[in-house]
Amino acid sequence: MSEFDPQILRFDSLPSTNLEAARRAIEGAAEGLCVVASEQTAGRGRLQRQWISPKGAGLYFSVVLRPRIHQGSWPLITLAASIAVHDALIEAYSLRTDIKWPNDVLSNSRKLCGILAETVDTTEGRALVLGIGINLTSSAFPPEMQEIATSVQIETGAVPDLEIILRHLTIALERRYEMLQSGRGGEEILREWSIRSSYARGKRVRVANGQEVLEGTTRGLESDGALRLETDVGEIRIVRTGDVTELRTLDV
Ligand code: BTN
Repeated sequence: MSEFDPQILRFDSLPSTNLEAARRAIEGAAEGLCVVASEQTAGRGRLQRQWISPKGAGLYFSVVLRPRIHQGSWPLITLAASIAVHDALIEAYSLRTDIKWPNDVLSNSRKLCGILAETVDTTEGRALVLGIGINLTSSAFPPEMQEIATSVQIETGAVPDLEIILRHLTIALERRYEMLQSGRGGEEILREWSIRSSYARGKRVRVANGQEVLEGTTRGLESDGALRLETDVGEIRIVRTGDVTELRTLDV
């Protein structure tokens, strides 16, 4: 049985660390292979978006995982990853963040980190490539995104050291990934996520999923990590994908 053992490969420039990690997973890379690049020329985001990745402005990181848990529970891996980013930022820079469902890490309501998990079929079975992008400096995103994005530099007032974040991140990831795959790991991850996320319960949100837009109040997570949303007519809807935005009083 494979175990998570971080081995880091570093690149100056890649189209996407997720693509490189997927390629290596197909070639048989062991669980724990990490790919880090100084820049990405075709960084990928959730929902087919691009992830702008200028040189030296962010941590662009992917890891190959070969989960032992049932595939229906794999969404919990991205929740575990967001817990790990949250904890790594506290440990490295005493920076306390929030987590927006499912796995955006926010500071002062602006996005600091995004996580993209992609499955890949390999000769050793289905693997998961977990990609994490953390904005380190404000050059990580264009000025027109400053209302919605932030960086570790903006939030702490100092230029962060990528190596320090990377070290804390790999330690925290290993811990949460192993926790998830232990006895009652799913429940523990859901509990730890809910402690760190203001979105877990009682938050007024809009959820956009293609043409469908729902509004309501968050009511916790399902056992597979899906979001429970109580709509304004009191119906509970289970959300498995979509873009969540907080509804402030003026938006309602
Ligand atoms: C999101 O849309 O919020 C997810 C962004 C994920 C970006 C990271 S950067 C490292 C890895 N490689 C990619 O191409 N994407 C992920």
